[in-house]
Amino acid sequence: MEHTGSNTSEIQMNEVSEMVDFLHINLETDVGECRPVREGEAHSRNVLRKQRNWERQLATKKSKRKEEKQRRKNNQEQAGVYGHHPQFTKRVMKAITKERLVEAQSTGIKLCVDLSMTDIMSDKEISRLAGQLRRLYGSNKKATQPFHLFLTDLREDSRLYRECLRMNDGFLNYVIEITEESCLDLFPPETVVYLTPDADEALETIEDDKVYVLGGLVDESIQKKLSLSRARELSVHTARLPIDEFMVKRNNAKNFHSKILAVNQVFDILLTFRCTNSWMEAFQSWFPQGKGYVVAPEASPPPSVQSASTQTQSS
Ligand SMILES: C[S@@+](CC[C@H](N)C(=O)[O-])C[C@H]1O[C@@H](n2cnc3c(N)ncnc32)[C@H](O)[C@@H]1O
Repeated sequence: MEHTGSNTSEIQMNEVSEMVDFLHINLETDVGECRPVREGEAHSRNVLRKQRNWERQLATKKSKRKEEKQRRKNNQEQAGVYGHHPQFTKRVMKAITKERLVEAQSTGIKLCVDLSMTDIMSDKEISRLAGQLRRLYGSNKKATQPFHLFLTDLREDSRLYRECLRMNDGFLNYVIEITEESCLDLFPPETVVYLTPDADEALETIEDDKVYVLGGLVDESIQKKLSLSRARELSVHTARLPIDEFMVKRNNAKNFHSKILAVNQVFDILLTFRCTNSWMEAFQSWFPQGKGYVVAPEASPPPSVQSASTQTQSS
């Protein structure tokens, strides 16, 4: 019987996989027998073990991501953050979305992503940041009360700009202000609240006359407290998300707990808070499960939560 090229390779793959299984069983048995293993044998056993672990991790990650996506979708529908109008056609929805975004450019609360620190980022980090900006814009587009968005300190000859053009369909048509200027070239310093995980004060609420700034950073090799240093350099108010006030640590196998979120995740939390006026709801909907925190049962803000606008950073 003849096989097509793809059938042949599929069958070969199956055979390889069966062989891997077979080898694995034998190897396990060998380990049980504790007989000395040759160097090459040990090497291939390690490779196989690594491959299996990697495949297992990949499958777990994939299903977790799927679950997380569904969880967020359900929560968002309940919170009513996104205007979901099944009765409208796609075309009408597109027009409504555009109108909301244009309206937000004159009446929406201003939010900047500060892209002044991208020079110290690797190409991989730049790529991830471009993806996060796409998701951030996508969330704003769907929101019933979008923010007036600015990408500040973004030069057209920068790697990030090129990556946004490459990765983000329709980037040039985003309803968003793209500028080489910094947030302080655009707004009075006393109106600016720089969000950073390392601020002392928690953000209490979102105010119409404030300008919120997120640091355009991806946390891989980046040094800690970079956005706090940047805020200090600018001498503007700082605030962190009120995670300590509304969430508690959750036990997990790796004992991992992090309050540092990606810029699009922070943005989703802000969007939901803006719509619901509830941090509990915002965290419940968007705080990533893998960060090792859960919303505290019956969470209520202690008196220590102060308005972000009470704190100024000196340089
Ligand atoms: C991946 S974080 C960058 C963390 C980085 N190490 C730093 O220096 O801040 C990207 C941005 O998201 C925002 N962000 C992340 N977690 C936050 C939190 N818990 N509270 C306030 N802002 C947060 C900040 O604006 C931060 O600059």
